[in-house]
Amino acid sequence: MVEEPRILVGVTGASGVEYARRLIDVLGDRADVILTKDASAVIDVETGLPPKEFAAHARAVYRGEDLAAAPASGSDRFRALVVVPCSGTTLAKIAAGIADNLVTRAAAVALKERRLLILVPRETPVSAIALENELKLARLGVVILPASPGFYGRPRRIEDLVDFVVARILDQLGVEHAIGVRWTGPPE
Ligand SMILES: Cc1cc2nc3c(=O)[nH]c(=O)nc-3n(C[C@H](O)[C@H](O)[C@H](O)COP(=O)(O)O)c2cc1C
Repeated sequence: MVEEPRILVGVTGASGVEYARRLIDVLGDRADVILTKDASAVIDVETGLPPKEFAAHARAVYRGEDLAAAPASGSDRFRALVVVPCSGTTLAKIAAGIADNLVTRAAAVALKERRLLILVPRETPVSAIALENELKLARLGVVILPASPGFYGRPRRIEDLVDFVVARILDQLGVEHAIGVRWTGPPE
């Protein structure tokens, strides 16, 4: 039996871990999750949840320090890596080819194996350094998908804003979903 291709979700120490939680919930056991050390700190600040509970529906949860884990190798057949939220630090390391934890290593693998790599940066305003890093990676085919929800669906709850961004990530992954809103033209 051929194993279903998995999606790696790398969570780093930027604000907005709710985007990752919702993505992991939707993907369920199609997702393998990597949490950097600082992601665990931000998860605690923003949700109060222990890391295991945060990614409760995932197939596996790896620590960023675990450089011997399967996704550190190109022989591991993950289909795509989504880094959500992506800190400026992780963005810079990926752009520089530094692979010093499991998220940055998996990103280096995704680049060398020409697999789908989606980064969801969360920082505002954006420095010229970060813009240059994003441009460099975008030119290599990396999808830069800022955590920047649209308001044309008239969101009422935080969950609506989270779903807008997660829906765009799922679209990029080619995963069928029924969350968020799509623009269908101006209201009658
Ligand atoms: C509560 C909290 C929120 C943070 N939010 C951001 C953020 O939105 N964007 C960012 O680039 N860094 C943010 N940082 C700083 C990163 O955590 C820090 O740069 C860290 O080195 C990132 O490491 P990592 O990418 O390996 O997880 C935040 C830190 C804390 C403690």
